[in-house]
Amino acid sequence: MAKRNISILHIVGNRPQFIKLAPVFRAVENRGYKQMIVHSGQHFDSNMSEIFFEELDIPRPDKNLQVHTNGGHAEMTARMMLALEPVISAYRPDIVVVYGDTNTTLAAALTAKKLCIPIIHVEAGSRTGKEYNPEEINRVVVDRISDLLCTPDRESYDNLVQEHLENKAFFSGDVMYDTFLSNKQRVNSENLLMEYSLEKNKYILMTWHRQENTSDKGKMTDIIELLEQIRYKIILPLHPRTKKKLQEFELWDRINKVSNLCITEPVGYLEMIGLLSNCAMTLTDSGGVSKESFFAGVKSLFMVDLRVWPDLENSGWIRHLSQNINENIEFIDSIFQQEKIEIEMPMFYGDGKAAEKIVAEIEKRFNTGE
Ligand code: UD1
Ligand code: UDP
Repeated sequence: MAKRNISILHIVGNRPQFIKLAPVFRAVENRGYKQMIVHSGQHFDSNMSEIFFEELDIPRPDKNLQVHTNGGHAEMTARMMLALEPVISAYRPDIVVVYGDTNTTLAAALTAKKLCIPIIHVEAGSRTGKEYNPEEINRVVVDRISDLLCTPDRESYDNLVQEHLENKAFFSGDVMYDTFLSNKQRVNSENLLMEYSLEKNKYILMTWHRQENTSDKGKMTDIIELLEQIRYKIILPLHPRTKKKLQEFELWDRINKVSNLCITEPVGYLEMIGLLSNCAMTLTDSGGVSKESFFAGVKSLFMVDLRVWPDLENSGWIRHLSQNINENIEFIDSIFQQEKIEIEMPMFYGDGKAAEKIVAEIEKRFNTGE
């Protein structure tokens, strides 16, 4: 049967999605299919958006919808849908690809579905079981209405089977692992460590941006109290949301006085994986960073009470922050006292070829030659 030249529309809008898009875009390009990129505008600072297109060699989006708002979830999602509908209608792609679990993912999937366009969800199936979590709501809804659900790990695949979505589920492996593997050699660690006055294995890399950890002054104060007790150097590329909230809650001066803490602007992907590969451990509330810590062979102290990557928790790569500050300090001390040893990593997230497998699966299921 002859192959059609299927057209694919990727819809992205925020930092982790650009990182997930990169290998999929490349794999589609290698097959010679027509593809377009629409950027919702959710992340818009150049160090939250443009830098990833440049570093990861992704072409500029065909269209940027410029939806950025300080409003609530409903306003953001609704404005994205309003802007997306005419654009998807005009492109009329054969397939829409959405990534991860953000409001851009939700808006794109809902809009495409109503236009009867098949949806591929990359990074499907992850479940925390906590319906108050905004990312959980987005994932559950998007998985329910998508037509091909590409899972980063087996656990996510099993979740979809439990939800009776097995006909649409496909264990591809994790596209973030693809991106990590194909870029880690590009980092010049020596220059990077010099630039930030850091020593290999002697600092903590921190990220902090979740709604759960930034919407309440008490919660933000608890985190600063922990930082005040840590005796090791910490580098924190600060998400704009967290900076705004620290200023709004009048915590900005206090955090700037934490003596071992170095706050920087958000960094690009190459700097980020360089900082990850050379740190002793991470302290983070990011789903992406906690998983990438494992890719880089470092442990992660996770600052949200959600089981995001069960395999990594079960095997000790991710540990949850305790309510007891002394227990956290003891854990951090124990990491700094251990000799870092290279060990064989379990293949929870595939073999670094997830994007190729996703595109091959799209061909199998959607390119019928009609
Ligand atoms: C969003 C996602 C979250 C994801 C995170 C990745 C939702 C509901 N949340 O959270 O799941 O983990 O992205 O980073 O979709 N801002 C700027 N400049 C920017 C980007 C954001 O100033 O370039 C400001 C926004 O104006 C807003 C705040 O940061 O005030 C939060 O941005 P928003 O996109 O709503 O949520 P994130 O916390 O980034
Ligand atoms: N990241 C980055 N620069 C930073 C912080 C994060 O490049 O200053 C990368 C990080 O390596 C990972 C992705 O952004 O690939 C994770 O994004 P984020 O933490 O914003 O979102 P989440 O994973 O929680 O959805």
